[in-house]
Amino acid sequence: MNHFLDIHKTDATDLRNIIDNAAAMKQARNGRPKGAPDDDQPLAGHMVALIFEKPSTRTRVSFDVGVRQMGGQTMVLSGSDMQLGHGETIADTARVMSRYVDLIMIRTFDESVLTEMAEYASVPVINGLTDRTHPCQIMADVMTFEEHRGPIAGKKVVWTGDGNNVCASFLHAAGQFGFDLTFTGPAQLDPEEEFIGFARSKGSQVVIERDAGKAVAGADLVVADTWVSMHDAQSSRERRHNLLRPYQVNERLMAQAKPDALFMHCLPAHREEEVTSEVMDGPNSVIFDEAENRLHAQKAIMRWCLGV
Ligand code: CP
Ligand code: NVA
Repeated sequence: MNHFLDIHKTDATDLRNIIDNAAAMKQARNGRPKGAPDDDQPLAGHMVALIFEKPSTRTRVSFDVGVRQMGGQTMVLSGSDMQLGHGETIADTARVMSRYVDLIMIRTFDESVLTEMAEYASVPVINGLTDRTHPCQIMADVMTFEEHRGPIAGKKVVWTGDGNNVCASFLHAAGQFGFDLTFTGPAQLDPEEEFIGFARSKGSQVVIERDAGKAVAGADLVVADTWVSMHDAQSSRERRHNLLRPYQVNERLMAQAKPDALFMHCLPAHREEEVTSEVMDGPNSVIFDEAENRLHAQKAIMRWCLGV
C-alpha cells in the first residue's frame, strides 16, 4: 500500500519521481484555465476524501482542484462533523471510509491519528499535516527550489524560528534529497533530535546556530514559518514571540545570505512578525510559486499512491 505519511518513510527514488512527474504535469497544463481537465484523466472514477481537523486554505483547495483536474471526485469533510469527532475510533472510521472512497487525505493534530488511519485503511492515506510533520508542503518546496535554481542536492537551506512540523519535514527532505540544513532559533524551540538524526544518518550536514546572521551566511534558501502553529496553545503566544523576535526574516538578514538566496514560507504568514512584507514581496521570494506547486506536487503524490 502506497501511503504518503512522511518524507522519511517514502523511498528516495519514489520521491524524486514524484517531483519530476509533478514538474512534467505542471508543464503539460501550460497556462490552461485552472478548471480545465488534464489531457490524462488518471483519477476518473476515483473518489477522494479530504478530512480536516484543523483549518486550511491551500491544502483544502489544492487537493480538491488537483483531483478534479485529473478526473476524480472529492468530498471535503470536517473532522468535527464526522462521528470521528464524537467518539468513533480512528480504526473503525478508517475501515468504513475504505468501503466508500479510493484515497484518504487527512489533516489532524496527533500523529497517531494519521498512523492509525493508515494501519486500518485498505486505501492509501496521505498526511495533510500533523502536529509533527507536513510532507506535502516540503515536496512542493523542493519542486519550487529546483524550478528556480536547479538541483537542491548539496545546497544550504536555513530554517529560521520555531523547529516545528514544517521544519521537521524539511529535515526529512534534507536526508532524502541530499541538501544541508542550518537551524537558527532559540534552544527552547529546537527541532526534535529524531528529525535531526534522520538527516544526519543520510549524510546531510545539520547545523544549529543561535545567531541568525551567522546562520544565513552562504544560504541558498531561507525559510520562515509562523511563530505560533495551529497546535500551539494561544497562551504560549507572548512567550513564543519574545523568544522568536530575533529570528525575524527581514532585508537586513537576507542581505547576509547569498545574493540570489530564495525566500520561502509555507503560508499563512504573519506579516511583520516572522517575516517583513519587504522580503515576502521582494524579488527573491517564491512564496506564491510554493503555494501553486502544492497543487502539482500533490497531484503527483496521489498518482503515486494510487499507481495510476
Ligand atoms: N501551507 C498550508 O498547508 O496552508 P493551509 O494551512 O492553508 O492548508
Ligand atoms: N506550522 C504551521 C504550518 C501551517 C501550514 C502550523 O502547523 O500551523
